[in-house]
Amino acid sequence: MCKFFCTFAADFENDVYENQCMSKTSFSSKVGLIMAAAGSAVGLGNIWKFPYIAGENGGGAFLIVYLICVLLFGMPLIMTEFLIGKRSGKGAYGAFRELNGNNRWQWLSWGYMMTALMIMGFYFVVTGWCFNYLAEAAVNRFAGMDMQALTDNFHNVVSNKPRMLGFCLLPLVLTSAVLLFEVNKGIERLCKILMPLLLLLMMLMAGRVLMLDGSNEGMQFFFQTDFSKITPKVVMEAMGQSFFSLSIGMGALITYGAYMPKTQNVAISSIQVVVLDTLVALLAGLIIFPAVFAFGFNPAEGPELVFVVLPAILGKMSFAWFSSVLFFSLLCIAALTSTISLMEVAVAFLREASANSKHPLSRGQSVLITAGIVALLIVVCVFAGSVFDSFDKLTACVMMPLGALGMSLFVGWFMPNQKNMIKGEVGTIKRWFKKIYIILLRFIVPTSILIIFLNNLGML
Ligand code: PHE
Repeated sequence: MCKFFCTFAADFENDVYENQCMSKTSFSSKVGLIMAAAGSAVGLGNIWKFPYIAGENGGGAFLIVYLICVLLFGMPLIMTEFLIGKRSGKGAYGAFRELNGNNRWQWLSWGYMMTALMIMGFYFVVTGWCFNYLAEAAVNRFAGMDMQALTDNFHNVVSNKPRMLGFCLLPLVLTSAVLLFEVNKGIERLCKILMPLLLLLMMLMAGRVLMLDGSNEGMQFFFQTDFSKITPKVVMEAMGQSFFSLSIGMGALITYGAYMPKTQNVAISSIQVVVLDTLVALLAGLIIFPAVFAFGFNPAEGPELVFVVLPAILGKMSFAWFSSVLFFSLLCIAALTSTISLMEVAVAFLREASANSKHPLSRGQSVLITAGIVALLIVVCVFAGSVFDSFDKLTACVMMPLGALGMSLFVGWFMPNQKNMIKGEVGTIKRWFKKIYIILLRFIVPTSILIIFLNNLGML
């Protein structure tokens, strides 16, 4: 932890130098890049999905498997995505061609683009819920509502489809605008302020929740591991959640690697992103579960869990109105920094894939085509709850792990010149660290993903 913050301090000192040297498209500092990558990782996955999946899968039993997945999969795969981007300077489509010298591995980037589109389909819907909650918090609608009223309120919100559609399309328009006008620097600055503010507010909320009567039971639920509850399904869900939360297995972080200053170390940057993301997820659990038990609610309630519990907690904070508006604003921004990175995967794909064709697409055209497809997917997800659920499950538990499997096989086994590349980027810290990275990437990641799949299919 100390090292983490020391590196942060050192990075700040480097800022001035980096600012003078960076090309126009690069991030203006190492901290800026880490914050932006953390902005992609930290989002609804941590605050909405982590508590509801953990609640459905036994709390403490899920937590321990999740943390193991973060170490075994998260660390090496974030490093690998950064490495691919940094060495190629391109998005996924261009990167696989550049690094392999031909287009034999480019099929992977097609899968990544499909995954990004499907995630966006349901992610924008949940982002729409957050915008709706921000609007409701602003008019103090939650004041005096009990748990039953908050539950009914959530159901009313999602069943009013035309209104919901408006709230889902708003973040799509905002995300498209950011990508159209390439306001990277603004986003980077926003993330630098947002991240610490979000952490601070969440700490205050955790402090408040722990003072509630009956919160102990929630702490036990979240931190006590009942090993008998660890089933193949729990392991699969935890693996999927770690991929989703860390934005790995679909090329999103390759883009951040492409913007990385040459002097930036991929290993240290990856550790920082993993630590920040995990901290936010743990804080979300620390807020939600004690409150769930104190309010006599059900931890396995599903996707609506945090949308019922959070307004109740915020109502108990001092300056309740201000805290609620601030929290939902930060949540909306955290969601937007994730949708930006999701959409960039599809936009970069369209641009790179069309570059050598008769009609190369401009950035604007790529953004508009992507936005059009995503708008259709949003409509489907708003009107068909079953599509929403299957996009949610399929992307995290199947497509992202498969995408990561392909990536680990490519970089670990097939990529030409891989030893030099890994040595150049990872070997600059400790040698043992590089060795662990290679063992994880070549052996542990692919075999674990396969075993988890086969186990869930009942084949082991
Ligand atoms: N990691 C993001 C979150 O937790 C979601 C995301 C997934 C973003 C994949 C980009 C790519 O909210």
